[in-house]
Amino acid sequence: MANPSLLILPGDGIGPEVMAQVRRVIDWFGANKDLVFDVSEDLVGGAAYDKHGTPLHDDTMAKAQEVDAVLLGAVGGPKYDDLDFAVKPERGLLRLRKEMDLFSNLRPAQCFDALADFSSLKKDVVAGLDIMIVRELTSGVYFGEPRGIHKEGNERVGVNTQRYTESEIARVARSAFELAKRRGNKVCSMEKANVMESGILWRDVVQEIHDAEYPEVELSHMYADNGAMQLVRAPKQFDVIVTDNLFGDVLSDCAAMLTGSLGMLPSASLGLPMGNGRPKALYEPVHGSAPDITGQGKANPIACILSFAMALRYSFDEGANADLLEGAVQKVLADGVRTADLMGPEGGTPVSTGEMGDAILAALDAA
Ligand code: NAD
Ligand code: IPM
Ligand code: MN
Repeated sequence: MANPSLLILPGDGIGPEVMAQVRRVIDWFGANKDLVFDVSEDLVGGAAYDKHGTPLHDDTMAKAQEVDAVLLGAVGGPKYDDLDFAVKPERGLLRLRKEMDLFSNLRPAQCFDALADFSSLKKDVVAGLDIMIVRELTSGVYFGEPRGIHKEGNERVGVNTQRYTESEIARVARSAFELAKRRGNKVCSMEKANVMESGILWRDVVQEIHDAEYPEVELSHMYADNGAMQLVRAPKQFDVIVTDNLFGDVLSDCAAMLTGSLGMLPSASLGLPMGNGRPKALYEPVHGSAPDITGQGKANPIACILSFAMALRYSFDEGANADLLEGAVQKVLADGVRTADLMGPEGGTPVSTGEMGDAILAALDAA
């Protein structure tokens, strides 16, 4: 049988820096676990714009549709801030999500024991935290029409449209209920049904899917603003949170800080199963290109490495190897190895991106 295929898109800023460590991890699994991937690499974001004048070349888009999974680093940066909207680096990522129809974005936030002291919240609020945010990723205000900036009289007006169809809500709800069944059996759905019609429909459809197909899963509904407050007040009340594209973007950054750093949070963006039963899938850290630390060897590669662990689990049915990799990350953190973003008030000497990679490979060797 052919080896499973991976397309790697390192992107911009710290994207290539953290992805270099993931490549070492991929090579380790090839050498030690007989888990060999056919890896190809290509450009996305500003890097693609610099070469092709577009943030995602059609050939790259076509490759992404063919491979078993895509791994992405990060896109964007100040160099590209003044580009036309249509060719901004972020448009490349949004095109991948939309054309691959990756409607279900899994953003787990787990607080590893070794970092519980380091969160900006009190230790007992976050210790043992394990929640999963399921963010709708291909619709809502990110893609709704009409959109744009136009003139009304003498002033400019900016327009975006929050729009959800019933089937778009239903499919992401199913994905959240399916996950909950394999976790704590609880889903909290977040919207603003108090002010938005799309929120009313969201709430109704999630409830209908629950009643018809998943009555055994505990379901609650919460306004998203209260949800943000509850996430920092008592995050352990949640198991799976399902929410729309924009609320999910904001709430997942908020959840990231519960775990200690944005540099810790991985994600999986999943679509419908392909012919081989695997879902269309793209894996990427939740963080961006971090221009403030680019090129300094300071970036934490863990979010990107854990994104590869999610690929092992969700695309390749390699749960045991995903556990092995996550265990190696936990071991390294328990040993006190810290990149700069994980330095607590007690201080210490941070390791570089490459040294964090060294430590994780050593932990894999020792496991
Ligand atoms: P960011 O996530 O890049 O950075 C926010 C803060 O977190 C910065 O202080 C940064 O140094 C820190 N940080 C992020 N990742 C880190 C890591 N791995 N290790 C250590 N520290 C880390 O968000 P931003 O500054 O708002 O955005 C910068 C650019 O990235 C923008 O162009 C934005 O559009 C883009 N962006 C891309 C993605 C993506 O590619 N998926 C996600 C978010 C933002
Ligand atoms: C994320 C990012 C993206 C988003 C941007 C870069 C398009 O913030 O993946 O969280 O808003 O979805
Ligand atoms: Mn975001």
